[in-house]
Amino acid sequence: MKKYVSTEMNPEIKLKINGLTYKLRVTPEKTLIDVLRDQLGLIGTKKGCNEGNGGAWTVLIDGLPMCSCLLLAVGLQNNEITTIEGSKMDEDIQIIQKAFVEVGAIQCGFCSPGMILSTKGLLDKNPNPSVYEIKEAFSGNICRCTGYKKIIKAIQTASFQINEKKSL
Ligand code: FES
Repeated sequence: MKKYVSTEMNPEIKLKINGLTYKLRVTPEKTLIDVLRDQLGLIGTKKGCNEGNGGAWTVLIDGLPMCSCLLLAVGLQNNEITTIEGSKMDEDIQIIQKAFVEVGAIQCGFCSPGMILSTKGLLDKNPNPSVYEIKEAFSGNICRCTGYKKIIKAIQTASFQINEKKSL
């Protein structure tokens, strides 16, 4: 038998995403990734296994890379959420995106939003990461086509360019 959930029964919540406040009704079990993709049309965040593996689901919560498929949307009303669509407002994310394109670290692009936001999270915490630190930070981010050498190169390039910009 089909079950129907009345949207009137669902709580109205407010989510701050990419600097905008969205008011919406969600069922309590809705994950952030489903709200982003299905209710708000922010499809840059990619859904993979839906179990927290792979890293394509990465968003920034208060600047920290987190798994949008394991977080409940109702619990995020006091947080700043950044998705890849927020890159329009963040110069560092734009530099990172450019670096990925310039060194050829993007092929099919499925992993790229997660890689780019994970890079932002890493460089905010550690502006000059070593290769070891990059590998450690990205151990949960899987890319099936580009190969990791170019991704590491892109992160190093972005690190250099962001540091240079800050020193001006
Ligand atoms: S570019 Fe295709 S999975 Fe990474």
